[in-house]
Amino acid sequence: MKKIIALLLSCIMLFQLTVSSTAAYNAPKLEKEEWDMYYESLVDKNTLPALNVGANQTQVSLCWHCDKDKAEAKVEVSTNSDMSDAKTFTGEITVSENDTQVVCRVTVTGLEEKTVYYYRWYTENGWSEAEKYETKSFSDHKAMVVGDIQIAEDWRTDDEVNQDEIGFNWNNVLSTALTNSPDIAYLVSPGDNTSTGSTQQEWQTLLMPKALRELPMALAIGNHDKKGMMYNYYTNMPNEYYGRFFSGLDRDFWFRYGDVLYLFYDSTSGNAPDHKAMTREAIKQNPDAKWRIGVVHHGIYGAGDCIGDAETEILLSTIFAPIFESFDLDLVITGHTHSQGRSHFMENRKVVGTAESGKTYTNPKGIVYLNSNSVCERPTNESYEAEHLAYSFLENDTTTYSTLEFKGDQLILETRRGDNGELLDSLTIERTEEHNENSFGNVMKRAGYTVIEALGFIYTMVDNLVRKFS
Ligand SMILES: [Fe+2]
Repeated sequence: MKKIIALLLSCIMLFQLTVSSTAAYNAPKLEKEEWDMYYESLVDKNTLPALNVGANQTQVSLCWHCDKDKAEAKVEVSTNSDMSDAKTFTGEITVSENDTQVVCRVTVTGLEEKTVYYYRWYTENGWSEAEKYETKSFSDHKAMVVGDIQIAEDWRTDDEVNQDEIGFNWNNVLSTALTNSPDIAYLVSPGDNTSTGSTQQEWQTLLMPKALRELPMALAIGNHDKKGMMYNYYTNMPNEYYGRFFSGLDRDFWFRYGDVLYLFYDSTSGNAPDHKAMTREAIKQNPDAKWRIGVVHHGIYGAGDCIGDAETEILLSTIFAPIFESFDLDLVITGHTHSQGRSHFMENRKVVGTAESGKTYTNPKGIVYLNSNSVCERPTNESYEAEHLAYSFLENDTTTYSTLEFKGDQLILETRRGDNGELLDSLTIERTEEHNENSFGNVMKRAGYTVIEALGFIYTMVDNLVRKFS
């Protein structure tokens, strides 16, 4: 009997160890004074690494600035905290936005799921301290969504917020999300990562939270990022797609994690032919992906001041919605309006199915648009009414974040307060059918899109000329 009890106890302990095997992120919530000290110690340096998602779940990428005379684009990865038996990955060195530094980019490959790794990158002072990175499940998993982080340089100090305060909010919303959900595998942002897009300090502040050494990010380009070229020097996104007509900062990109294909669109570009071509190429390479998620900065069918706005409601929905619909996307993540909200199921500019909070919908027709709140300043409470809106959060003095959980046939979308994690909105989409981008209706929709491609091509050529001579 004693042996049986001992065996049972051992099994229970083993089960508990397995259940709690997802280690906590190092994501401390800081008081403002603590953050201020941390911020001041780092803000004038320019060497923090960005950890970005890789082309698939077995990869992550790094990007960091380094003294141009001492730079070596190399990263060591080990399963031992003392970095013994480390494997070395090398990458490329390119010019930076300043005269004294270069940009190092390295992609780490061959990662295995649910494994604790340690990594370090080569700095101007030799190897960095080792950082921990734990891979999560490569099948069922969870992603975090936060948009309009929009770190703003200090010329806005006379305004409501400044760079230091936005960094403080950014650190704490990450802390809330990662403490509540330590199983989050990566972060998706629909862009406006910075405000002016033209200072290194904005990116230094964005990269400050300690959690970002462990949390790979996928960052879309927003209209504020496009005010400058800094995004170019501080990111290392996978499968960047420049197509035939993109120029300057403009580009799309895509990546695959488990059963999910993410398609990131640069909505500051009206380059319809290349947006469509990128979608076709990514789907062609990932025909088996169960979920197709679009990420685009502007708030098409979002909450806030995109409602009734000609740019988003007419121009951008004309360019992007036919691509999303004819390639049978499941969900589109947007931002820009600094207002948390979510649409019903949309198609052809109409609500084709209600998407009530807390409910599950199986093989729904149409696409849900999730509009993320901002981390930087948020407009005061306003009630936005629009037929397309299923949910909107009006207490905009509070940050929010969303999670996407992929579990079997289900995509579970949740939105929570960024200060205490309280659940605000949820929706479950169940997909048991194949994607239908080759249906007669979708093929015809893409045939009709040729006119928009032609107009988008003309727009892109004019836009490129204007930028060349301005
Ligand atoms: Fe924006």
